[in-house]
Amino acid sequence: MILKTTNLSKKYQHKDGVVNALNNVSFEVNEGDFVTITGASGSGKTTLLLSLAGLIKTTSGQIQINGFEVTTASDRKLSDFRMMHIGFVMQSFALIPYLTAIENVMLPLAISKLKKNQKYEKALDLLKLVGLENRKNHLPQELSAGQQQRVAIARALVNSPSLILADEPTGNLDPSLSTDILNLLKKINREEKITILMVTHSPLAAEFGNLKIKLSEGELENEPKGHNNKI
Ligand SMILES: Nc1ncnc2c1ncn2[C@@H]1O[C@H](COP(=O)(O)OP(=O)(O)O)[C@@H](O)[C@H]1O
Ligand SMILES: [Mg+2]
Repeated sequence: MILKTTNLSKKYQHKDGVVNALNNVSFEVNEGDFVTITGASGSGKTTLLLSLAGLIKTTSGQIQINGFEVTTASDRKLSDFRMMHIGFVMQSFALIPYLTAIENVMLPLAISKLKKNQKYEKALDLLKLVGLENRKNHLPQELSAGQQQRVAIARALVNSPSLILADEPTGNLDPSLSTDILNLLKKINREEKITILMVTHSPLAAEFGNLKIKLSEGELENEPKGHNNKI
């Protein structure tokens, strides 16, 4: 098991009232799982990913990732933990516009102890993995949307994370590019043995998961399906 949440709840205090964004969410993820998280807009999907990464403070419940207790960790420990274990892929690719593809991929290595040429080689390997080595010197604006998302995926992998959190990674792509990106994520999941949690509102994309989680108003709508463990 790589990830476990126990009775996870998140209430946002808003001036218009309290929002119960997550309510007693419990599930387990095994190493190598490809988890898809679906649910209507506002059902708590993004809140769940942000909570798992320790980017927002949850109200109650526990999160364990690789044996690390996320909900009680200090900000400093959390930041180290994210750096070592988590890669993010967002709907809007969040590339730096004035850096080339390879520079964008190298960016998370800025504080690593690797030598400059080691960073370069590592980033180049990942651009190869996502099929973009011949675009390494292109700026984001010189790449198509699908290529930009590939760069973002390579960047998410550069710290060798054990877990990738992807929030609607195909939300800004047309259907055929979406399929490319989903196949790429599947390949990374299989070949690099990286566990993936992917939020999506596309039923087609959700089919890529071996474990399917559905949220409804902050609650698990079903027992997660398709798992090989005891749930
Ligand atoms: N920072 C916030 N403050 C107050 N309410 C929020 C905040 N972020 C999200 N919410 C509310 O929490 C609920 C879940 O939001 P979110 O996790 O973004 O849903 P999803 O990603 O499934 O669309 C929504 O009702 C949303 O309006
Ligand atoms: Mg969202």
